[in-house]
Amino acid sequence: MKRKKIVAGNWKMNMNLVESKNLISDLKEISAENVDVKIAPSFTNLYMANSSLESSKIEVVSQDIHHEQKGAYTGEISAEMLLSIGIETSIIGHSERRKYFNETDLILSKKVNSAVQNSMKIIFCIGEELSDRNNSNHFEIIKSQLTNGVFHLESKEFKSVVIAYEPVWAIGTGMTANSHQIQEMHEFIRNLIKSNYGVEISENVQILYGGSVKPTNAEEIFSLKDVDGGLIGGASLNSSDFSNIVKAANGG
Ligand code: 13P
Repeated sequence: MKRKKIVAGNWKMNMNLVESKNLISDLKEISAENVDVKIAPSFTNLYMANSSLESSKIEVVSQDIHHEQKGAYTGEISAEMLLSIGIETSIIGHSERRKYFNETDLILSKKVNSAVQNSMKIIFCIGEELSDRNNSNHFEIIKSQLTNGVFHLESKEFKSVVIAYEPVWAIGTGMTANSHQIQEMHEFIRNLIKSNYGVEISENVQILYGGSVKPTNAEEIFSLKDVDGGLIGGASLNSSDFSNIVKAANGG
């Protein structure tokens, strides 16, 4: 089974309008036959980004959605609003949302449901803290995040999910998980998906790695059997780093 690689840039709370325009104009040069390239700017820049990249193959995605369609939720953005500006995919469950905004598994499962009901695609993030790994709880944590967050979906719904494994201790720290740790966890995740949804879906689901991916380590990480690309933070804010990471996913 040949799964297409994905390289997605999560800009987090970076890049104002002018900076976003500049970065996007540099990214337009990126072309990679074998890679689906995505960027996730902040909400305020999504409309501009999507319009600017209309004729390119780069997909613009959101960093989050709220679980309700509309209503008295000051400051929030719904799936329906995103769709109305042409955004068809959202990241859900990033560890920074879990940690700083107290997003529980229950909230995340509602967000997942909202995305599915609106026919949006999902990049669902999971990852253990360093203390979980040190206590050898990392497999349990990952299993419970998946079970509570996405495994309630029916098979046909699950097909719109991409998983991003991002060990929290590797995010923004320069401390990338090593190849053994990454492959072992990705295989574990794929096997869990196989138990829940069968071989075909598990062989098709794309599992991305995130956590200090850089041009220098991308090729090695992307060459691992169960790694189907990356979710890139810091390095996605630099056009040459990001395009070199895309090149690494495209086969060097
Ligand atoms: P860094 O690439 O900066 O470690 O961030 C990873 C991440 O959180 C992407 O969502």
